[in-house]
Amino acid sequence: MSDYALLARQLETLLDTRDWLTNAAQTCAFLKHEITDLNWAGFYLQRQPRTLILGPFQGLPACNPIAFDKGVCGAAATTRRTQRVADVHAFPGHIACDAASRSELVVPIVHDGELWGVLDLDSPRPERFSEDDQRGIERLVDIFIAASDLSTPSVTG
Ligand code: SME
Repeated sequence: MSDYALLARQLETLLDTRDWLTNAAQTCAFLKHEITDLNWAGFYLQRQPRTLILGPFQGLPACNPIAFDKGVCGAAATTRRTQRVADVHAFPGHIACDAASRSELVVPIVHDGELWGVLDLDSPRPERFSEDDQRGIERLVDIFIAASDLSTPSVTG
């Protein structure tokens, strides 16, 4: 089980710039390394209207782009609520970028009232993410948001 209080302190120390690109790269590398049983950890950004574009990530090459009405990431973007999926095979419209993925946690990132992007964590283990994991990872996403200047234009039209 992850010690999220410790991970939070470590991430706060790691994110020592305001640049969202650097911080996103550092955050997904940190999560992939520190959290057990992940096969993918990364960001999708809303760089085109209602479309998620692949950002910094750790893992295999991934699906791109993802429309807001597609997959677990799209559901997180549309509802602006964390999606915790115990069995991706049971999720209608799940996008299987990597057939090894069995469970998933996607946390929306909102800035200035706009959906900025999502953090997507995938695991080869069914039911990998507990409520504690969800709370802990949402806290880590809050740290990423607080550390980063998200107003730097990311929408390219
Ligand atoms: N599984 C995601 C797609 C992104 S990949 O897992 C990296 C989904 O259904 O939204």
